[in-house]
Amino acid sequence: MNNSSPTRSILLWDIPTRLFHWSLVLLMIGAFITANQAMMERHALIGQAILSLIIYRILWGFVGGETTRFRHFVKGPKTLIAYLVDLRKALGKEGEKPHSVGHNPAGGLMILLLLLAVLVQAVLGLFSNEDTFLYFDAPLVHLVGSSISNQLTAIHKSLPIVLLILVATHVGAALSYLLLFGDNLIWPMITGQKKFPEQLVAQGDPKAGSIRLALLCLGMAILLVQGSIWILSP
Ligand code: HEM
Repeated sequence: MNNSSPTRSILLWDIPTRLFHWSLVLLMIGAFITANQAMMERHALIGQAILSLIIYRILWGFVGGETTRFRHFVKGPKTLIAYLVDLRKALGKEGEKPHSVGHNPAGGLMILLLLLAVLVQAVLGLFSNEDTFLYFDAPLVHLVGSSISNQLTAIHKSLPIVLLILVATHVGAALSYLLLFGDNLIWPMITGQKKFPEQLVAQGDPKAGSIRLALLCLGMAILLVQGSIWILSP
């Protein structure tokens, strides 16, 4: 689609989605810092908050705003390849940048990988222990015993490199869209608003999610995490 056509600004990312994203970013930074400073009690609390957020986002993927629903952005390999071919063709052609009202098929795949990797990392944390410099057992270590806990801890300590690679690719992709196509994906994740060619959004704005439903999903996620820890704790 030619980018010289008239444009209209729409609400691409609703408030719950933006709050989710930037809270996740802050908590992930907090998790890295507290792990490096051996502040295990705080690290465990941050991990539980991250786990609650990811469970919230999974629920939100079914009942949230239109652009954040899984069925809106999870695409099959054919769509993904077709998108990448279009993207390649658009390179270097002025005014031919590809548009996606929501996550594009490649971005959608990256989001799934990020959610999955963070989920695995946070769950592993519940079964991890730290006995190198200090003595700390996460709340569910007793369920698996110290030998399995040691193995899960080893994975929990290795996975951050995978997370860093995924996040670097994620941020690198957003910066590449800006540099190669002049398409700023980052600003809409802050303000919610993004401009699109009018004919692409002629059928109206994507439906935003309900704040009440977001709070309900978040409440359920926190209850699930804290309730499970409470029930399963010794
Ligand atoms: C710990 C680091 C990060 C994680 C785990 C992460 C994860 C995510 C997730 C899960 C989404 C999907 C949002 C949703 O649909 O609910 C997303 C979207 C997005 N993130 Fe991040 N993010 C991180 C850091 C960043 C940073 C530092 C930036 C900016 C420089 C950024 C820019 C974006 C953008 C632009 C989108 C929307 C992509 C699109 O338009 O399709 N992210 N991120």
